[in-house]
Amino acid sequence: MGIRRKVFVTRRVPQTGVQLLEEAGCDVTFWDSDEAIPREELIVRISGVHGLFCMLTDIIDGEVLDAAGGSLQVVATMSVGYEHIDLDACRERDIRVCNTPNVSTDSVAELTVALLLLTARRLLEGVQAVKDGQWGKWKPMWLCGMEMAQKTVGILGLGRIGYGVARRLKPFGVKRILYHDVCRVGYAADIGASFVEFDKLLSESDLICICCNLTPQTKHKFNKSAFKQMKKNAILVNSGRGGVIQHNDLLEALVAGDIAAAGLDVTEPEPLPADHPLVHHPNCIVLPHMGSNTWDSRINMSETTAKNILSIFHNENAMGFVQ
Ligand code: DGY
Repeated sequence: MGIRRKVFVTRRVPQTGVQLLEEAGCDVTFWDSDEAIPREELIVRISGVHGLFCMLTDIIDGEVLDAAGGSLQVVATMSVGYEHIDLDACRERDIRVCNTPNVSTDSVAELTVALLLLTARRLLEGVQAVKDGQWGKWKPMWLCGMEMAQKTVGILGLGRIGYGVARRLKPFGVKRILYHDVCRVGYAADIGASFVEFDKLLSESDLICICCNLTPQTKHKFNKSAFKQMKKNAILVNSGRGGVIQHNDLLEALVAGDIAAAGLDVTEPEPLPADHPLVHHPNCIVLPHMGSNTWDSRINMSETTAKNILSIFHNENAMGFVQ
């Protein structure tokens, strides 16, 4: 009989993933909370496990990996993003890394479009005005925003999510879809999206969606100089990673009127403190990293993470194999 492999799950997650692991004969333990596991607890509980089922809030570095004590074969994150995992440290220890691509594409793309509409059409200001008793007789010049029809949309990162956003925006009648990425992608033609250099994306787009990962290349790509190149009436939405935007520069740009408005589902840091000026800026909407918050996605993310772990245990190809 083979060894009974131990898997540690760092949070309460949809049961489907845990069930798959248990049915496959794994010995599953988990941090029984909706809150992130404290690092010192993780270091204790990871000892002797073969698989780690973690979240984007868990920093997985050499110290954590060493605490596992040599048994660890796979770190599987229940997220698309894996910037919280030290890939070099995993490689040095011959530990595989997996993520959950595909299964949250629709939920994040839908959220991005919702945030774009929320921001461009000033919908939260409208809701607040009603609550505050500011809704008087109809006024021709009140709470006017920007419509998408005939506008140029710029997408930074035309991966699955960026493509999903572009595909959903096409029926709004946008005039052009521009994208910038590390390389040109063939499927851009399916939605009529044109590759442009970053400077052109900034200067020609009315609405910009950040849909990329956080990498050394994308870190603080939206900074003072980028905001100066954008149109003064431009709307910026971020559902990728907070670190792609330099937040002090964004605040300055909003205050100075260098851009019209921003909608952020991801921020730097997370959570953004409730008293942060961006939270209270009238032209900024901040959501609490809700892109993949649908039961459909979360159940699939849990299952995919479990399947990734089992694939590595069984020397099979994992769906979300990072390295
Ligand atoms: C991911 O999967 O990386 C998302 O940011 C979580 O919603």
